Amino acid sequence: MAEIAKLQIGDRAYEFPVTKGSENELAIDIKTLRGVSGGVITIDPGYKNTGACKSAITFLDGEKGVLRYRGYSIEDLAEKADFLEVSYLLIFGELPSQDQLSKFHSDIKDNAIVDDDVRKILDAFPKTAHPMGILSSLTSALTAFNPSSVNVDSDEEMYRAIVKIMGKLPVLVSWAMRKINGLPLNYGSNSLGYVENVMSMMFSKPNEEYTVNPIVRDALNKLLILHADHEQNCSTSTVRIVGSSHAGLFASLSAGISALWGPLHGGANQAVLEMLEAIKEDGGDTKKYMAKAKDKNDPFRLMGFGHRVYKNFDPRAKIIKVAANQVLNDLGIDDPILDVAKSLEQEALNDPYFVDRKLYPNVDFYSGIIYRAMGIPVEMFTVMFALGRLPGWIAQWKEMRLGKEPIGRPRQIYTGETLREFKNIAQR
Ligand code: CMC
Repeated sequence: MAEIAKLQIGDRAYEFPVTKGSENELAIDIKTLRGVSGGVITIDPGYKNTGACKSAITFLDGEKGVLRYRGYSIEDLAEKADFLEVSYLLIFGELPSQDQLSKFHSDIKDNAIVDDDVRKILDAFPKTAHPMGILSSLTSALTAFNPSSVNVDSDEEMYRAIVKIMGKLPVLVSWAMRKINGLPLNYGSNSLGYVENVMSMMFSKPNEEYTVNPIVRDALNKLLILHADHEQNCSTSTVRIVGSSHAGLFASLSAGISALWGPLHGGANQAVLEMLEAIKEDGGDTKKYMAKAKDKNDPFRLMGFGHRVYKNFDPRAKIIKVAANQVLNDLGIDDPILDVAKSLEQEALNDPYFVDRKLYPNVDFYSGIIYRAMGIPVEMFTVMFALGRLPGWIAQWKEMRLGKEPIGRPRQIYTGETLREFKNIAQR
C-alpha cells in the first residue's frame, strides 16, 4: 500500500502521498498543499530538505559515501572509463558501444570550431580577468553565434546543441588559459582523443611539438570523471532552473558556470590552494588555522572541508587523494603544499569540532594539488571543474526539458512592511 504523510495545521488535517525512488529514498509530495490548505507553503532556506525534481542520472548517499552515475559506481568509472564514455553515459543513459562513441566523438569534432569573432570578445577582456568570468561570458556569447541552439524542440536539434557545446567549451577553456599565459589561441587537433585534445589546446606552445604525458592524461581523465555530475548541487540546479524558462542550453550553462564560480561551490578548489599557500608562507602552523576555522568570530573556514550532502566522507576525495600522491610521485614533484594539506587533514579528522559536525575533506581539497602539478594556473582550477561538470549539466538540462518540467518559481514568506501611505519627498 502506498505510504501517506499526514499534516495537521490548527484543526485541519491533510494527507499527502509519499513517493519512493529506486534506492528507496522517500519524499512527501506536497504539490497540492497550497491549493488544499488555502495558501500554506513550506519554507526551507538553502533547500536542505527539498527535492526539486525526480532524476534518473546520479545517485548519491551522503551518509554512506556512495556516488553512482546511471547506476555505475564512481570508483569503477574513475578507474576504468574514459571521460567521453562517461559523458555519453550521463547524457544518453547508457555506456556507448564503440560505434556510438565514435559517432559522438566525430560529431563533436565536426562542431569544435568557435567562430573567429569570439576571439574579439576575448581580446576585450583585461588580462587580469578571472577565467570563470571569461568562460561564463563566452559561453553565453556562443548563443549569438549559434542561434539554432536556442529553441530545441526536437531530439535532432537537442543533439546538435549538445555536440556543439561539447566541442566548443574545451576551446573556450583553453583560450581562457592561453590568455593568462600570453600564448596564441589554437583549435587543437581532430586527430587526438577528447582529453588529449584538451591538453594539447591548453599546454602546446607555438615553437615546440606537444607530446601528451600519459600520467598527466590519466590524472586529468580521472579528475574530469569525478567532477562530471553531482545531482542537484547549486550550479546544476541553476542550469535546470534557467533552462526551465526555456532559455537555451548555452545560456543555461553560462548561468551554471557563474554559480560554480563561488568559493562555497566549485571556487573552493582555488580557495583551497590559496589557503594552503598562505599557511605555508605563514610558517606552516596548521594549528593556528584550525583555531581560526573553529572561532565563530572569525569568518575563516577550512576550505575543502565539509559538504552539504556528504556527512561521512566524500568518495571523490578518497580517489583524488590517492591520485594526487601518484601524480606527484610519477612526475617527481616534491610539493610542500601536500605536507600542509596532509597535516591539516589529520588534525581536522581528530578534532571534535570537525568530527561532531561531520566535516571531512571534499573533492576540492586535493584536486588543486594535482592541477598545480600539471602546470595549470590557480585561477584556472574552477574552470577545470566546469569542463568536467559540462556533461552532467547537459544531462540534467536535457532531462528537465524532455521531462517537460514546469518553470522553476519558488514562493516566499513575506516579512517586510505592510501597506503604507506614500509620503512626498519633502515630508520624509
Ligand atoms: N570550516 C569550518 N567550519 C565549517 C566548515 C568549514 N569548512 N564547513 C562547515 N562548518 C561548520 C559551520 O560553521 C556550521 O557550524 P555551526 O553548526 O556551529 O554553526 C556547521 O559546520 C554546518 O555548516 P553549514 O555551513 O551549515 O553547512 P552547509 O551544508 O550549509 O555548507 C559547505 C556546506 C560546503 C558550503 C560548507 O561546509 C563550506 O563552506 N565548506 C568550505 C567550502 C568548500 O570546501 N566547498 C566545496 C564543496 S565540495 C565541491 C562542490 O560540490 O562544489
